[in-house]
Amino acid sequence: MKETESLQKLTIAMPKGRIFEESLVFLQESGIVVGENLKDSRKLIIPVPHFQMEFILAKPTDVPTYVEYGVADVGVVGKDVLLEENRDVYELLDLEIGRCRMVVAGLAEYQPTVQPRVATKYPTIASRYFREQGQQVEIIKLNGSVELAPLIGLAERIVDIVSTGQTLRENGLIEMEHICDITTRLIANRSSYRMKSKAVESVAQKFIQAIPKAGVLR
Ligand code: PRP
Repeated sequence: MKETESLQKLTIAMPKGRIFEESLVFLQESGIVVGENLKDSRKLIIPVPHFQMEFILAKPTDVPTYVEYGVADVGVVGKDVLLEENRDVYELLDLEIGRCRMVVAGLAEYQPTVQPRVATKYPTIASRYFREQGQQVEIIKLNGSVELAPLIGLAERIVDIVSTGQTLRENGLIEMEHICDITTRLIANRSSYRMKSKAVESVAQKFIQAIPKAGVLR
């Protein structure tokens, strides 16, 4: 009997968007053959019976929600989303892809004010950071193109992720404070982790083989 035949089916939530392509390469390097061109497909549920797996393609911020509620057993998600969404999931592995950093940025000529406005897609992370710094700020939640905010006077500063730095550079913004480093993580539903431990471990092992510097989170 093949190894996969004894495993229970695993539903894996994959994020569309920023880390999607890198995650696909990662899957390939894990030896998981999806057999369908996920990049160009509009399908949201992709069965991969040969590996006893099924992929669901989700908006990145929803991946921890699917995993917490157990409609996905495991999920691939950025640490930024995990910190922001604060879902009750088990963080299994740092996949060491999708590397970027969460920063405070603004215009070079920024003059500190008593209660600066901070625009961000990450209100939870930003609030926590400024609270820890003992700084009073007004957080303005945006859903994208956050770099616009200081340019048009909506906010003095932004909290956002920086990868290549191109977006900041091209908009004349500079990094002011480093909040944390971000990478992509493999997460698991807490009860799937217990009830489908073999299948979860099997996929984690496959993923570990694709990590350049393999390491389980402590
Ligand atoms: C992210 C992030 C920055 C940009 C950083 O946005 O919010 O805007 O990427 O990348 P860079 O440092 O390589 O330029 P995303 O592309 O996800 O789009 P959004 O602004 O619409 O959310």
